[in-house]
Amino acid sequence: MLRKKHILLGITGGIAAYKLPLLVRECVKAGAEIRVVMTESAASFVTPLTLATLSGNDVVVGTIPKMTGNVMKGGTWHIHTAAWADLLLIAPATANVLAKLAHGYSDDAVSTLALAFTRNVLIAPAMDADMWNHTATQQNVSLLRELGYTVLPPDQGELASGLIGPGRLPEVYRLLEAVDAELEKSRRDLTGKRVLITAGPTFEAIDPVRYIGNRSSGKMGFAIARAAAQRGAAVTLIAGPVALQTPRNVERVDVESAEEMYRAVMKRRAKANVIVMSAAVADFTPASPAKTKFKKEAMKESTLDLPLRKTKDILGELTREKSDAVIVGFALETERALFHAKKKLKAKHPDLLVLNDASKEGAGFNTDTNIVTILSRTGKIDRLKKMTKYDVAHEILNRVARLL
Ligand code: CTP
Repeated sequence: MLRKKHILLGITGGIAAYKLPLLVRECVKAGAEIRVVMTESAASFVTPLTLATLSGNDVVVGTIPKMTGNVMKGGTWHIHTAAWADLLLIAPATANVLAKLAHGYSDDAVSTLALAFTRNVLIAPAMDADMWNHTATQQNVSLLRELGYTVLPPDQGELASGLIGPGRLPEVYRLLEAVDAELEKSRRDLTGKRVLITAGPTFEAIDPVRYIGNRSSGKMGFAIARAAAQRGAAVTLIAGPVALQTPRNVERVDVESAEEMYRAVMKRRAKANVIVMSAAVADFTPASPAKTKFKKEAMKESTLDLPLRKTKDILGELTREKSDAVIVGFALETERALFHAKKKLKAKHPDLLVLNDASKEGAGFNTDTNIVTILSRTGKIDRLKKMTKYDVAHEILNRVARLL
């Protein structure tokens, strides 16, 4: 979401200000334009020169800049700057600035801008735990939320004072995620839609201890769940065994085996407007898993025969049924990728098939990027460049939204 966006960063005077140059750099790298405004006390913690160099723009410190002779940039600077920006992020936000914003004060450049802003203000407070927990601060936070500001809860942990508690500024990547989510709110094209997504591998038990699995990390499916929820959909994510955090506003159902995933999907399919099968469902499972741990002494030879049977093809079954849902399948291939993908599209005929060529660098399992080709039932083939899985998720959802 950050690409080509105008971000205004308001820094106020707290020790966590030292983290912000990194955020400025990441925003620029993501293709955003960023301007920094800071209070006098913030300038004691991090230098305006650092921020000007990283942002490539002049930094405003303290009060509204004096630019007489240019009305546009002088007397109405705050109005024009607010109109320029897509989002205002105030980080770190001190207890003092929370109090000021909650009551409409505008006695420095940051609070003046906040008051001139009509949308997309994201506030990331950081302070000592006692100040955060103080009733006055908590009341101010409630007031700010009522006024429509998004206030991020601070992280729990070790504070600059040495005390442990809530008050830490979230890490830069989390702030960026929050900025992204805030920007996404302007694109709510999946509002009212129910999206069912499967993600991750399935584990097929050999005995109570061992299993057959695959290398899927679940990152692609989780990225789709996050993106769909941000676009307003009611999302249910059926996840195989993965080590990932549930995205915000997503209902998660954990399953282990292909059979469990099959049942979880079948139970929920009728209500779904969109079904995305990004899970790497096992194609075969041990025919008769042992009830107790299999002992190697029981092996007569140096090799072991393990009879396997086919699992149910969830995607195949979904597309065989008559339904209005938009169905997205995935194909992971390691050779002659497009040939196999076209065959899979014909055999399972989902509306869209996302082809993942695992032989390419920056694609496939456990990476944060992916290189996919999206094939549609109508014969269209879109080869996408390498991008983050989150961006791939939006590319997929753009096409889904058109089909709905
Ligand atoms: N899939 C499914 N149920 C299965 C196996 C796969 O729903 N038992 C879904 C996957 O979630 C994916 C698509 O089918 O959306 C393609 O899976 P893939 O394993 O690549 O294809 P297969 O048809 O299983 O063929 P092969 O493994 O031989 O490539």
